[in-house]
Amino acid sequence: MKLLVIGGGGREHAIIRKLSESPKAEKIYCAPGNGGISCDAQCVPIDAMDKEAMVAFAKAHHIDFAVVAPDDPLAAGMVDAMEEAGIPAFGPTAAAAVIESSKVFSKNLMKRYGIPTAGYEVFEDSGAAIAYIEKNNTFPVVVKADGLALGKGVIIAEDLQAAKSAVQSIMEDKIFGQSGNKIVVEEFITGPEVSVLAFTDGKTLKPMVSSKDHKRALDNDKGLNTGGMGTVSPNPYYTDEIARECMETIFLPTVAAMNKEGRPFKGCLYFGLMLTESGPKVIEYNCRFGDPETQVVLPRLKSDLLEIMLAVRNERLAETDIVWSNEAAACVVMASGGYPAKYEKGLEITGLDENGQTGGATVYHAGTKKENGKFYTSGGRVLGVTATDATLEGALKKAYSAVSGIHFEGAHYRTDIGK
Ligand code: AMP
Ligand code: GLY
Repeated sequence: MKLLVIGGGGREHAIIRKLSESPKAEKIYCAPGNGGISCDAQCVPIDAMDKEAMVAFAKAHHIDFAVVAPDDPLAAGMVDAMEEAGIPAFGPTAAAAVIESSKVFSKNLMKRYGIPTAGYEVFEDSGAAIAYIEKNNTFPVVVKADGLALGKGVIIAEDLQAAKSAVQSIMEDKIFGQSGNKIVVEEFITGPEVSVLAFTDGKTLKPMVSSKDHKRALDNDKGLNTGGMGTVSPNPYYTDEIARECMETIFLPTVAAMNKEGRPFKGCLYFGLMLTESGPKVIEYNCRFGDPETQVVLPRLKSDLLEIMLAVRNERLAETDIVWSNEAAACVVMASGGYPAKYEKGLEITGLDENGQTGGATVYHAGTKKENGKFYTSGGRVLGVTATDATLEGALKKAYSAVSGIHFEGAHYRTDIGK
């Protein structure tokens, strides 16, 4: 089969690595891809949001199956466009992707179907939002933009002043554009966070192994929120008992709810969970594989990813066996100095071989480009250095040892992933 993977980060690199293990995968294209991905797939310079160009490319190159990985093209209907053109695609339709692209939709869905989540109110008017926060007088309070905001649309306000300025900047100053036309004001809840990705074809749901992201930029969970600075799998807080509870109270009810809403979800559904004292609750849904969760989850997959994705697309997931390894995996993200705020690009990366790899670990490229055989930084998150081992300690040791041999000016990584 000829495959087209849409996207160009560490997650897409991990997906492509696993797809290329399938005996059915004859040729893999990636649009737009990146420097590291170009060592494993043929990269094509098409913007991930350009539906017309993507469909034209897929037709011209006789693509048999497309995998749409990032949130923006999913929300914009890339899967719908592919399917309408007769190209089978993995991922939710725009109608189903709304579970991520509108927090108002997902919160109302959870309320309607009794799926546990933090208490909340929706506002379309900043004055009403501030009046509510004043009256409620409970801090911290969480203020969320309704729409997509590059993972930055959540503000945890410690006091009234901070809450007022959060509402002001989202709804009036429109720092996230139209994504801030509505907001969710949410109860602050506490507990360990768990990411669970699941395959679902709208009928059957099969969770993948659990993982734990580290979202803050600096050690000890200090600094700004990022897309994710590192992950481990399995998540040590996620016991079999909690997994059973989540299946019953969250995962299956979510699939059923989307069907009842006439928005059947097919693809990878991401559950961002918080294990609170009163049980697991949903912090957020994503309509796609997590990044950098995928980098620790897929290396543990023993089954053929292409077969699973085809089964999801063809609604045959119930008949498909999915086998995982018992090993642990760890991913340490090497980021550009300054990320997630301002950072430089175009810095040479040393310590990688001609395929962008290094001994003892797998290097998933997130923000790199390759020129004349050399790799250069081209984004905030640059590399996801990933290792597996019988124990988490072993996996972390291998990953950090590989990190110590890779250099670029200003490189920043957390030293406490998995601790
Ligand atoms: P989200 O983009 O919705 O995943 O939110 C980003 C991060 O904000 C989450 O990973 C949590 O750490 C935190 N967060 C979001 N909602 C809440 C909440 N209701 N209570 C406490 N923390 C939250
Ligand atoms: N790592 C969090 C996400 O993919 O949304």
